[in-house]
Amino acid sequence: MRELVLRAANPDEVDRVIEFYGSPANFGDEERKHILPRPEAVKLAAEDSLFFVVVSGKGKIVAASGVFDVDATDHIEVGGTGVAKSHRGHGLQNLLIQVRTAGVVANYGPSTEIITAVDPTNEHSLENVKKGGFVSWPQPLEAFLESCVGCPKKPSLPPGRVCCCDFYLLPTNEKKKLVKELLNLTSTDLAILSNSKKPVPVSLELNLVVGEHRQDLEAFVK
Ligand SMILES: CC(C)(COP(=O)(O)OP(=O)(O)OC[C@H]1O[C@@H](n2cnc3c(N)ncnc32)[C@H](O)[C@@H]1OP(=O)(O)O)[C@@H](O)C(=O)NCCC(=O)NCCS
Repeated sequence: MRELVLRAANPDEVDRVIEFYGSPANFGDEERKHILPRPEAVKLAAEDSLFFVVVSGKGKIVAASGVFDVDATDHIEVGGTGVAKSHRGHGLQNLLIQVRTAGVVANYGPSTEIITAVDPTNEHSLENVKKGGFVSWPQPLEAFLESCVGCPKKPSLPPGRVCCCDFYLLPTNEKKKLVKELLNLTSTDLAILSNSKKPVPVSLELNLVVGEHRQDLEAFVK
């Protein structure tokens, strides 16, 4: 089997990413509601090499995930993770949590807050986010609730709930743990995802894990 490749998306791949998210072959109707289609944010992230895709041997996108620099805050959001039905169960979301954490540390500095949002009914994503070390952030900054205005789910939210998602923050010790895991995984050219019962080879073609960035990440986890 040809391995999967995890790499930063190019800004000119945004349409392909949006198509990937919208495809019923990749995601069920309910699942698509968990991924906000944010072409502009995907493009901005891709311009900074902080939007990641996993592509199959045939060049098809099978997973996608980004780092979003939300206006008016000094917090960075990791979000937009989707793994195609055909490629679930290999731990790709976990790997993408490690990669994006390293991306934020390398690009925005180790003390930058990393946040994410998950719908509490999305048990698989919630499990991975908690496994990654994220902890509850009960009172998120207002800027993170702006996209809720006009959200079709808003009218049906229970009283007292301002957003359909719960928010989470990543403590520094957990950032270190995730970055360390990524560095260990990329000490050879081909990573084998072993946190699943279906091990799969993934080639990580990332500037993040080589050269100066790697040295910075190694200094961070020491
Ligand atoms: C959440 C998601 C990214 C997880 O994908 P993943 O990284 O492949 O998941 P894991 O490797 O952790 O899977 C662990 C187990 O859960 C199963 N699983 C994962 N997602 C599942 C889903 N949505 N429905 C049913 N089972 C699922 C896997 O098949 C695997 O089962 P196995 O151990 O019996 O083989 C993926 O389900 C997805 O893209 N969902 C739709 C979009 C979404 O919710 N994104 C997150 C927004 S916060």
